[in-house]
Amino acid sequence: MEFRFNVSDIFKKQIVELNHNLIPPDFQGDKREFWNAISRISEVINTIGEASAAAQGLTKPITTADRLRNSDHKLYLLIDQTTTSGKGAVMGMLKTGHKVLYLFDKHGQHFQVSPLCILDFYVHESHQRSGWGKYLFEHMLQAEHIQPVEVAIDRPSEKFLRFLNKHYNLNSPVKQMNNYVVFDDFFTRQSESM
Ligand code: ACO
Repeated sequence: MEFRFNVSDIFKKQIVELNHNLIPPDFQGDKREFWNAISRISEVINTIGEASAAAQGLTKPITTADRLRNSDHKLYLLIDQTTTSGKGAVMGMLKTGHKVLYLFDKHGQHFQVSPLCILDFYVHESHQRSGWGKYLFEHMLQAEHIQPVEVAIDRPSEKFLRFLNKHYNLNSPVKQMNNYVVFDDFFTRQSESM
């Protein structure tokens, strides 16, 4: 996914972590450059948010610059700095955040928890099924010091469920009334930490 500007000028790393500031931690520049970067980063977030929504068949994006600005969510952007155009490209994104959830295990036992949630995940069509999703997901797991079984997922797509099954051997999703999904061992971990 290319833009009219060079994304490598703003995003210096292959995976960039953004929060409500919208600005990468290593950004350097004066006030004018700062606002210029914010405007471009907002365009990137809105564009990839729309692409993710379209890929998931959603009517509205889950990820927008405005929503990120007004949240404590974290957005990981996957950048390709090696495009032949020299302008760089955005290959994918993963958004996480903590939510208070009421979940039931498969025996009907009820838990109130505040797990890390996977809120949005997308790899551009031109790069899907090439390992980039795993690369981005692994980065997030390390950054958050978390195991795949410890996350809750908001409305996972069939592709994402297959992804989790293939890479992390997660099967038998426990689907919740609130559209979140967790896996069996999620509850074992919760009981251990109580
Ligand atoms: N059909 C079935 N399984 C798929 C597909 C597909 N079209 N695409 C990816 N997968 C699963 C498979 O297990 C696949 O392994 P395989 O090719 O051997 O069958 C595996 O993912 C590939 O792993 P990666 O290459 O590391 O993953 P990828 O880079 O494709 O990223 C992702 C996975 C993010 C799910 C990507 O396919 C995508 O963006 N899909 C469209 C949007 C989407 O469904 N996002 C998740 C929404 S749910 C949420 O965001 C909380």
